[in-house]
Amino acid sequence: MKKTILVTGGAGFIGSNFIRYVFERTGFKGKIVNLDKLTYAGNPENLADIAKKFRGRYVFAKGDICAHNAVLALMKKYCVSAVAHFAAESHVDRSIFGPKDFIETNIHGTFSLLEAARNFWAGRKDVRFHHVSTDEVYGSLGASGKFRETTPYNPRSPYSASKASSDHLVRAYGHTYGLPATISNCSNNYGPYHFPEKLIPLVLLNALEGKPLPVYGDGLQVRDWLYVEDHCAAIWRIMNKGRPGATYNVGGSCEKKNIDVVKGICAALEALAPAAANPTLGGREYTDLITFVKDRPGHDRRYAIDFSRITKELGWRPSVDFRSGLRKTVSWYLANGAWVKNVKTGAYRKWLDKNYKR
Ligand code: NAD
Ligand code: TYD
Repeated sequence: MKKTILVTGGAGFIGSNFIRYVFERTGFKGKIVNLDKLTYAGNPENLADIAKKFRGRYVFAKGDICAHNAVLALMKKYCVSAVAHFAAESHVDRSIFGPKDFIETNIHGTFSLLEAARNFWAGRKDVRFHHVSTDEVYGSLGASGKFRETTPYNPRSPYSASKASSDHLVRAYGHTYGLPATISNCSNNYGPYHFPEKLIPLVLLNALEGKPLPVYGDGLQVRDWLYVEDHCAAIWRIMNKGRPGATYNVGGSCEKKNIDVVKGICAALEALAPAAANPTLGGREYTDLITFVKDRPGHDRRYAIDFSRITKELGWRPSVDFRSGLRKTVSWYLANGAWVKNVKTGAYRKWLDKNYKR
């Protein structure tokens, strides 16, 4: 594929992994323009090496997806023929404490981007708009069952409601204007460059510092975990081979209770950076740091994904199992102390400290 892809939110966790994946793993010969507002979650450092290695084919543009005219100008300037839309406010806890930015970016921002694509592409069919979404739009499951693409939407947090709304807009643009759009609804990702407000990197880094490992409520909530590179591979396959108008669920076949995820991180840490050799632990085990805290308001109990459609139609399935994915992740954080230090001293920390006094 030799074209220009506009990636929105490419300085965040999954977007930066996606750009790295496309340049290094797919044989892609074209250009990527990364449009990112650089909120607390955006970090150009995530792609510093890529920017050097692919100079001329990687362009960073600081900007807001809500700024319709600027987005349209960018699409024209670089003759964009595909969009991979990651930009979003992505953290459920933040959406509970302050939903406004979620409505702005996730809903208005997606609308602005869709309008830019519709205006610029003007009915072309050799283009593609891919919208990256979440399984959380389907709501919460009981003890059994899985989300399918046909499961009715039932979002229950401001985050998932804003993502559901953006999904509906994307589908409406496909249906009404014929925009060649696809959507992926994916389960919880983990891996390198994950911002440490989310469960896995938060627990991992707290453990290394001998701080409490906060488990919300009874810790028996279930999430389905997918290594981020597997998600990137799924998105790439959908962008290249997926049916315009189709939605694809993406998941890891990896349902875990939160408490077991936390214990798994402790085990991976013990293997790679034993507690006994860590002076901040003062003789304690990593698991001694597990602390049950007040539950998240409206906390969804269980997510599970049926991803048989993408397997059947596009041959995608997850390739990294949870144990090795966790090990890879822990190793990455241990080897990237400078990245961790920069991120931890950033603005997000102040927010966390203010809202989650522990
Ligand atoms: P992230 O919070 O790590 O990154 C979001 C990026 O978007 C940041 O770089 C931020 O600066 C940028 N951004 C925010 N508002 C913007 C705006 N108005 N204009 C331009 N850029 C803006 O998020 P993530 O975890 O990488 O998630 C990426 C996408 O994947 C999101 O759409 C999210 O809903 C979806 N998703 C995430 C997960 C997950 O487990 N993290 C799972 C399924 C789907
Ligand atoms: P999170 O990583 O925030 O992702 P999401 O809410 O999108 O699933 O949380 C994953 C699960 O872990 C979720 O059930 C909430 C829980 N959790 C904790 O128990 N403690 C924490 O400190 C965090 C951030 C999350």
